[in-house]
Amino acid sequence: MTDAIHAEKFLILDYGSQYTQIIARRVRECGSYCEIHPWSMDDQAIRAFNPLGIILSGGHRSVYDTGAPDLRQAVLELKVPVLGICYGMHLLARACGGVVQASDKREYGAAQLHATGEETHRKPLFGHWFQENRGPQVWMSHGDHVVEVSQEFVVTARSAGGLVAAIESTTREVYGVQFHPEVDHTENGAALINRFVRDVCGGHGLWTASGFIDYEIAAIREKIGSDHVVLGLSGGVDSSVVAALAHRALGEQLTCVFVDNGLLRLHEGEEVMATFAKHMGVRVLHIQAQDRFLGRLAGVTDPEQKRRIIGHTFIEVFEEEAGKIPGVRWLAQGTIYPDVIESAGGKTGVATNIKSHHNVGGLPERMGLKLLEPLRELFKDEVRQVGLELGLPREMVFRHPFPGPGLGVRILGEVRKAFADVLRQADHIYMEELHQSGHYEKIAQAFAVFLPVKSVGVMGDGRTYEHVIALRAVATRDYMTADWYPMPVDLLKKISNRIINEVQGINRVTYDITSKPPGTIEWE
Ligand code: XMP
Repeated sequence: MTDAIHAEKFLILDYGSQYTQIIARRVRECGSYCEIHPWSMDDQAIRAFNPLGIILSGGHRSVYDTGAPDLRQAVLELKVPVLGICYGMHLLARACGGVVQASDKREYGAAQLHATGEETHRKPLFGHWFQENRGPQVWMSHGDHVVEVSQEFVVTARSAGGLVAAIESTTREVYGVQFHPEVDHTENGAALINRFVRDVCGGHGLWTASGFIDYEIAAIREKIGSDHVVLGLSGGVDSSVVAALAHRALGEQLTCVFVDNGLLRLHEGEEVMATFAKHMGVRVLHIQAQDRFLGRLAGVTDPEQKRRIIGHTFIEVFEEEAGKIPGVRWLAQGTIYPDVIESAGGKTGVATNIKSHHNVGGLPERMGLKLLEPLRELFKDEVRQVGLELGLPREMVFRHPFPGPGLGVRILGEVRKAFADVLRQADHIYMEELHQSGHYEKIAQAFAVFLPVKSVGVMGDGRTYEHVIALRAVATRDYMTADWYPMPVDLLKKISNRIINEVQGINRVTYDITSKPPGTIEWE
């Protein structure tokens, strides 16, 4: 099988920076495949990886700490271009004979750079970037800094305070930056990474969504042969893209199971069936399990217990249905690259948190199924690109995340069908208005919450005593921290009017202005 998309790849060695995944996303945006590995990857594995270039991430340690992560020999021996960021720069500078000074003080936040005007006459990385970005603002986050470089290096940029901000070798393609070009706070930082990937390393931009689809379809066919695959379709982005991709590769050999737990959004079941079953011809079993879920939730108010019930019931229903599919040998899952990195690093991130609910824990072993995870190499943005390329509707591809327990954790306290019906209508109006006003895609996640308390109101001549809907909208990239979204007042007014006028049983609407932390995104 030809594998053009992986023919050129970058190695990112992770020294523990919170931004390592962002470096990888920026490299992918330049059209090159890359992988993140721990800094302790052994020399033989680094050589076998055969990278086109290497990037060393930042990290929170000092190179002088005992047991601080070090630089692997193979990194400089391979003679491929190397870019060290922050801690990565300290390691390079020191390994090449320079001096790094430990400091108790951290320089954190925005800083202004200026070019020193020194040139390397090789493949200048910063000179070029500076021409386009006079005195750029960059993002700093470091304690130690480089105070002396060996003869082979020139200092190409300094911060306003005179600290070394960028170094460049005059004899080989080795570069270091004290700032973080990968984060949005660095002006045009992506252009610097692009310059490294494309111009210095010679990346050809082979990593594309269409290239990935061709490669993955061939890979799925080779792996699955004539076996049958089952997939739990949730209507979320990842499982939808897996369904579209696996269907293109396998056609009738794929069966999707879509479970309606009674806690889905308005028309969600019909929409999933229309997109996949009707338009794409995917075989989807639409399982109506509302009564089973709602029956077990009756009288339960504790959020974690509600989650457990919904999770266990899902596994039970899924297992029953999958067991009926003749000859099924594989379970497809929408695992994506951040899940892979986070479980490898033992970190608990939001991605793992989200997945843990959907993943059908223990089921592959019990049913003797092998796992098919065709999105394991992709970041979320890339999953979306692949989804668009496969022809999935834009609304589906750019949908906000929806928790596994669905409306179950958005109806506070006991879940009742009547509450779910009211919430579905209110949430639908909210989403309609966000789409129409163009705010939906600017918001990371928005939803309505049903509050089972009653408040007094007046409508017409009469007094009302009805339930409350809270609206939530947050801006976030990583879902670990989030700001409440500054929704325009006129829009809030319109949404609130519509909900109160159109949804029976609601006479009050509030907007949640709590950030995370201290709040969480969901209310339960
Ligand atoms: P919180 O509320 O913890 O949410 O700030 C962070 C992200 O995780 C989602 N979330 C869940 N997803 N099962 C899921 O699949 C859950 O039990 C669950 N709880 C929260 C939430 O929607 C947000 O995107």
